[in-house]
Amino acid sequence: MAKRDELLTAVERSIRAYCEAEHDFKFKPNDPVVRLHEPTFSTDEIMAAVECLLSTQVTMGPKVVAFEKEFCSEFKFAHGVMNNSGSSANLLAVAALANPVAKDGLKAGDEVIVPALSWSTTVWPLIQLGLVPVIVDMDPETLNMDPEQIERAIGPKTRGVMVVHVYGNPCDMDAIVDICKRRNLVLIEDCCEALAATYGGKAVGTIGRVGTFSFYFSHHMTTLEGGICVTDDFDLAELMRILRAHGWVRETENRDEYLKKYPEFDPRFLFVNLGYNLRATELQGAIGSVQLPKLAGFVNTRRENTAAWKKDLARYSEFLAFQKETPKGRSSCFGFPMTLTEKAPFKVQELMAYLNKAHIQTRPIIAGNMAQQPGLKLYAHRVVGDLPNASWIMRNGITFGNHQAVDAKARDYVNGQVAEFFRSKGLS
Ligand SMILES: Cc1ncc(COP(=O)(O)O)c(C=O)c1O
Repeated sequence: MAKRDELLTAVERSIRAYCEAEHDFKFKPNDPVVRLHEPTFSTDEIMAAVECLLSTQVTMGPKVVAFEKEFCSEFKFAHGVMNNSGSSANLLAVAALANPVAKDGLKAGDEVIVPALSWSTTVWPLIQLGLVPVIVDMDPETLNMDPEQIERAIGPKTRGVMVVHVYGNPCDMDAIVDICKRRNLVLIEDCCEALAATYGGKAVGTIGRVGTFSFYFSHHMTTLEGGICVTDDFDLAELMRILRAHGWVRETENRDEYLKKYPEFDPRFLFVNLGYNLRATELQGAIGSVQLPKLAGFVNTRRENTAAWKKDLARYSEFLAFQKETPKGRSSCFGFPMTLTEKAPFKVQELMAYLNKAHIQTRPIIAGNMAQQPGLKLYAHRVVGDLPNASWIMRNGITFGNHQAVDAKARDYVNGQVAEFFRSKGLS
């Protein structure tokens, strides 16, 4: 044991020395680069992963369970089911809700309303489970699903709503919950961009029947790849544990009940439903436990940056519009999305090219309007109206990096370059 500890300490010393030499993610005014993302992890997370590898206990086990518990206790979620990506979390959530054993389950051919400004794997799991996505337009100020459009989209086959809290900005959940209650619709929250965002003081993900999160490399915190489904519904959580791994009962909390019911099976190989393999690894669980205590600091930095940029760039508000929070929403500021106003006498590509030349990376807001993607056209879906706002956001949206490594100097550099751009256009 002493030898093991000694060896581990030596490994840690080497890794720390490496990271101190190579992992400088701070903005450097003499060599300015503002990337869309910088890593949130370094020595501590790498050591947590290395210790798993050295122990050879690498497949899902106690470290994933520990992370699930820590995550749920941080945000007051009742049950958490970790898996290997935000996309998998969406698949698992929808698969559970559409499973024959789910209470009031969704059935093939049922419609689920989704926002046009969403991610591909918000929509694909619906199609993969035989459901029909119904695409609705956005509110141009919050960049979120417009509740009026949800109401307008409801037809005889509509059974669910899947919201996306775009760029960490909570949707108008009072209005959406009200619609779902009145029209008896299942509410799913895709919170893959909204970790640590709150609505009315409650973490997003607790408002619908199930919420999903992503721990992808570039997100608020990471487990490299990774995701989690959260729910208050114990039976749904158990079902997600079954579907997550082969359809067996090994990771369920009520394992003994299943085993009692089917005593003739080897307890290790009792399959009570269909399933996937969407498990997270122990390395991911261990990294998550190291990242979680750092999350609040990361989110504070993102919020500070957002507040500062909104103030600093307000002088261009004739041409640039910023994402607005809903009255009860507190965004976790996944990025700093801006859309051009109709008065802007230039194209967003010109602003992108200008900033890119100054080593400020940019991108569109999510991927714009999903209804225009060729992949969707292969499958049954319904589009409500012309989606003018989603199309505007797609053609006129821009975001640059807003993450834990962006500091006041980086912000000033961005402000300076935006100012130069406007000067070059004779607009200031
Ligand atoms: C809204 C939304 N849903 C789902 C995902 C998928 O998450 P992941 O990349 O972890 O698969 C993303 C990815 O960023 C996303 O933005």
